[in-house]
Amino acid sequence: MRWFLLTVFLLNLLHLADIAATFIPKQQPLMGRVLPKAKAAPVLPPSAFLSTTYYLKSCPNLESIIHQKVNAWVQKDSTLAASIIRLHFHDCAVRGCDASILLNHPGSERSAEASRTLRGFTLIDDIKAEVERQCPKTVSCADILTAAARDATLLVGGPFWEVPFGRKDGKFSIAKEANNVPQGHENVTSLLKFFDKMGLTFVDLVVLSGAHTIGRCNCYSIQQRLYNFNGTGKPDPSLNINYLNSLRKQCRLSSNYVNLDVTTPKTFDVAYYTNLGKKLGLLSTDQLLYSDSRTRSLVDLMASQPEFFIGQFAVSMVKLGNTNVLTGKKQGEVRQNCNYVNY
Ligand code: HEM
Ligand SMILES: *[C@@H]1O[C@H](CO)[C@@H](O)[C@H](O)[C@H]1NC(C)=O
Ligand SMILES: *[C@@H]1O[C@H](CO)[C@@H](O)[C@H](O)[C@H]1NC(C)=O
Repeated sequence: MRWFLLTVFLLNLLHLADIAATFIPKQQPLMGRVLPKAKAAPVLPPSAFLSTTYYLKSCPNLESIIHQKVNAWVQKDSTLAASIIRLHFHDCAVRGCDASILLNHPGSERSAEASRTLRGFTLIDDIKAEVERQCPKTVSCADILTAAARDATLLVGGPFWEVPFGRKDGKFSIAKEANNVPQGHENVTSLLKFFDKMGLTFVDLVVLSGAHTIGRCNCYSIQQRLYNFNGTGKPDPSLNINYLNSLRKQCRLSSNYVNLDVTTPKTFDVAYYTNLGKKLGLLSTDQLLYSDSRTRSLVDLMASQPEFFIGQFAVSMVKLGNTNVLTGKKQGEVRQNCNYVNY
């Protein structure tokens, strides 16, 4: 266990060293009269242009507007917190965090089959309307969604982290691309591949899957686990038998919902991970993180070290929010209405 903690710690250090290396020029030894050769400018990743102080002057109230709106909406409907976190993931998972998931036209990501259970669009519209009132044409929808996901996490008892700002909104959104986002029936290899394309590691996969410590799932998404798994005519053998029976009862109607974390569905804790050790994972992709040798020791680590999970969740969420962001001068735009590209 110690061993693993150390490995994960070192992995993070390596990542930090990567980032540091892009900023800190290597010291050239002074060699007599030999002039140092001019070096090519280092190529920074787009996320290096994000900054926590991006709106400090142009929209000083931004974070308090978002915070107040998220609080008010979640107070009325507590299920919205989880939905906003998921919406942010689905945004970043396709074309990066560029609010492409919010575009509302025929054939957009939002209209895809894989997006039909996404929620929280009205909350983002409400935040955007107030932000436009106070800071017109300044704040991107992608930044709003990212900060709203952070505030939603905090509201359900998760960690706080500083959100780097400066994302632009994308102009393209294609339904077909949204259907590539994992749906819950993939194997670990394809999950790892998908995350790798986003610049995320197996650590991020296990840690971010921990978001399933809250929220709900449509019965429709797990139906095949309950009756005819993988064409065998039998339920998924990796489901605890009592849990299976309970799920069958709760899912008589495929339009019903079940909690992703069966023990503490409203608390941001490590029960999601301890459940996996008891065959109590709701999605097959959750349960597979425990049976796959590449991810199992990390699941055990999270289950036994809650502080580590909480800290790493914040780190991985920042990485998620930095995925393929549009930051160049000529890239993207600041949308005036999150539902539509500007004229
Ligand atoms: C690893 C791959 C992932 C898969 C296969 C997956 C799959 C799913 C599925 C099938 C649902 C239920 C949707 C429904 O039918 O209503 C769900 C819900 C949810 N997912 Fe994931 N997910 C993944 C990763 C993530 C990540 C990275 C996050 C955020 C960091 C996340 C956050 C959530 C949340 C909060 C919910 C509950 C939504 C609600 O209650 O409205 N998921 N996920
Ligand atoms: C995982 O799923 C992919 C895509 O469906 C498939 O091509 C691959 O063979 C699967 N790998 C394993 C090890 O089952
Ligand atoms: C699903 O079925 C395929 C082929 O029938 C098999 O190779 C695979 O191991 C099965 N997957 C699980 C998780 O049982």
